[in-house]
Amino acid sequence: MAKIVLGVSSSIAIYKACDLIRALQKRNHEVQVVMTSKATQFISPHLFQALTAKPVLVNLFGEREAERLEHINLARQTELLLIAPATANIIAKMATGIADDFLSTFYLAVECPVIVAPAMNEAMYLHPRTQANLAELYRQGVVICEPEKGYLACGEEGWGRLAEIETIVDLAQKVLASREKWKNKKILITAGPTREPIDPVRFISNRSSGKMGYELAQEGRRRGAEVILISGPTSLPSPYKVKVIRVETANEMKREVEKYFDEVEVIIMAAAVADFRPAEVMNSKWKKTQGVPEIKFVLTEDILGYLMVHPLRQEKIIVGFAAETENLEAEAKKKLKEKGLDLIVANNISCPGIGFEADFNDVLILDRYGQQIHSGIKSKREISQLIFEAIEAYREKLT
Ligand SMILES: Cc1cc2nc3c(=O)[nH]c(=O)nc-3n(C[C@H](O)[C@H](O)[C@H](O)COP(=O)(O)O)c2cc1C
Repeated sequence: MAKIVLGVSSSIAIYKACDLIRALQKRNHEVQVVMTSKATQFISPHLFQALTAKPVLVNLFGEREAERLEHINLARQTELLLIAPATANIIAKMATGIADDFLSTFYLAVECPVIVAPAMNEAMYLHPRTQANLAELYRQGVVICEPEKGYLACGEEGWGRLAEIETIVDLAQKVLASREKWKNKKILITAGPTREPIDPVRFISNRSSGKMGYELAQEGRRRGAEVILISGPTSLPSPYKVKVIRVETANEMKREVEKYFDEVEVIIMAAAVADFRPAEVMNSKWKKTQGVPEIKFVLTEDILGYLMVHPLRQEKIIVGFAAETENLEAEAKKKLKEKGLDLIVANNISCPGIGFEADFNDVLILDRYGQQIHSGIKSKREISQLIFEAIEAYREKLT
């Protein structure tokens, strides 16, 4: 049972909010309704008040003093903020931080998970501005309950229909359950390439974009874990509410991993760490007139090797990545065993359009107990969800 605030905005799908309240109550959740003032033009707050046995909150500057401070008090107690139906307008306000009514102000005040279930006409939903706003909300950690395709109130067929009530309620259950699983847990994620300097202006690096590690960091955060992201150089913005530590070289990355290793429970090594670095870094720029330089390489320090012999190793779940060009399954199994990992995520980098730099990937996730998940081609966002599901399943086997 959780304390859920249901934010209701002025979409034509508002009539479905009654069924949603009932469905949440059936699962023993306590529901408090907050409406936008335009929503009250569709349905009187009295209806929701009767269904929930609680006064509906609409105004930030309500008549009662208690009501005026409610957005902060309530924010502290709320375990889930669910906005359904969510108009294009409330989504835009949340994305940009506009706080001009109770609901939009409340969004900024809560620390709990937030689910948004959009409902609108197809053109509004597919408008690049709405899509960009939804992407921004996702980046802020909001879980989006995607609308469905079907008959819309405007008389058209298309995308934008509010997700089915059962779908919304199931998602709420899932979000609440995963919060329980990751409450007070810390995760360390490495991401991106490393850069090994040759001289003050040149370096060797690799094609990792960091996208997979950043998606994992967002997903971990969304599930309620505290996330520390140790990132090599990337052009990606820092995920919200994630502690980001930026490093350049493999050795710097190792130092930071060592620093945080004790305090985390799960370590996901998604960075493409350089295996070699120039033995010496030149103090000044090597000039063309000096001819072609001869660069001697040495091995970088092995981060995984260090972790595996750490006295606290057995208390941690360590997830490694393997980029292979052939015999994916056999190579992944070999690496899982040789490196002593708990889980491994292997992908075939010889396939065009997936893997390095791409938004999509196709991975095989293996755990030490022989559990295998083949993702098929999916977005890195979806793959990060699968990886977390595999970690959660693995954790359950340990207990
Ligand atoms: C009959 C009617 C139906 C509407 N349905 C929707 C809808 O389904 N989705 C949406 O985003 N906006 C819809 N709108 C527009 C919103 O009500 C309008 O953008 C409003 O300013 C949103 O305010 P709010 O987000 O504060 O509730 C509808 C408007 C009317 C008059």
